[in-house]
Amino acid sequence: MPLKVLILGVNGFIGSWLTEAILARRDWQVFGMDIADNKLGEVLKNPRFRFVEGDITINKEWVAYNIRKCDVIVPLVAIANPAQYVKDPLRVFELDFEANLSVVRQCVAFGKRLIFPSTSELYGMCPDPLLDETTSNLVYGPIEKQRWIYAASKQLLDRVIFAYGVRDKFDFTLFRPFNWIGPKLDDVFESKEGSSRVFTQFLSNVFHGQPILLVDGGRQRRSFTYVEDAVECLLRIIDNDGQRASRRIFNIGNPASDVSVAELATAVIEAFHCIPQYRHLAAAARIETVDSQTYYGNYYQDIQARVPAIEAVKTALDWEPRTDLMTSIRKTLEYHLQRGDFVATHINSTRTGTGG
Ligand code: UGA
Repeated sequence: MPLKVLILGVNGFIGSWLTEAILARRDWQVFGMDIADNKLGEVLKNPRFRFVEGDITINKEWVAYNIRKCDVIVPLVAIANPAQYVKDPLRVFELDFEANLSVVRQCVAFGKRLIFPSTSELYGMCPDPLLDETTSNLVYGPIEKQRWIYAASKQLLDRVIFAYGVRDKFDFTLFRPFNWIGPKLDDVFESKEGSSRVFTQFLSNVFHGQPILLVDGGRQRRSFTYVEDAVECLLRIIDNDGQRASRRIFNIGNPASDVSVAELATAVIEAFHCIPQYRHLAAAARIETVDSQTYYGNYYQDIQARVPAIEAVKTALDWEPRTDLMTSIRKTLEYHLQRGDFVATHINSTRTGTGG
């Protein structure tokens, strides 16, 4: 019998890419729920994919029924944009923590394998040059810095899931995305500051002829990971050959793409320059600096460096990232070019359904 995979938040960045990869490269069936379907495109027509439009906090019976029916559960519903952590921290707690805790408990009750998104944010301001799943400390700022409600919510879920594993031999994998990037991350048509994570925000700034804003000068660093590499790793986690992913925590990131936010801005403009149809946008691009209080408000605190150790995932799953930063940016721009986004006229008013 082919595996049945339940993906909650299937229309999100990770969900939509994972569904596409599963249907293309495995014989599994996918059952998915989300509040929209705009990122799913062609996969909606695939007979091995069953999509239901709905909200997991409302359609609880559908969720419970499908957890019982499926073999592997991938709950991806979450708010994952730092601007939202400081704007609506309780909503982050309710959705990212409370709604997901209920799913986790049902997986435990029905003995289902859980593939759960932890986060690179969990390490907080840990000073380790390489962040290690088993040895790095998790370091957060004071309560007033509400940014940390996301990391704290995710941390407690990690601890709960891990404890079920120890006590009940519950079968799970926790994966920690390190700034996964690519097409469909956030809504590139939305130009408002803070509407997207940095990668989409910078693309959107250039597409809309608005300045790229470097928060606090852009010296802070991230390790950007191309989504297709990352999703290949998720397929191996779900395969779980020899149970090598069971009850494990894996960083999924690209330590070779560790750059400062200022370097990311320069690379984005360079990538625009390399595509003739977008070259005029590169020529018009500007980089400015803004302080974090102005951009995010008082409740924000930043992370200065974040490089994943990836020995664990290399050894267990024989996985390594392959795509460098410039290729990741170019592939994302080529995706938009192919769809005709922002081509010919400076600002294209016909939205083609790429949105977040
Ligand atoms: C992200 C989010 O918390 C989650 O999506 C996720 O769990 C995790 O990290 C991850 O993907 O690994 P962060 O990397 O801080 O957190 O979020 P971004 O919005 O992508 O910001 C990255 C950096 O760029 C921050 O230092 C931010 O201040 C800066 N930034 C952001 C700018 O300089 N300019 C902007 O316009 C936006």
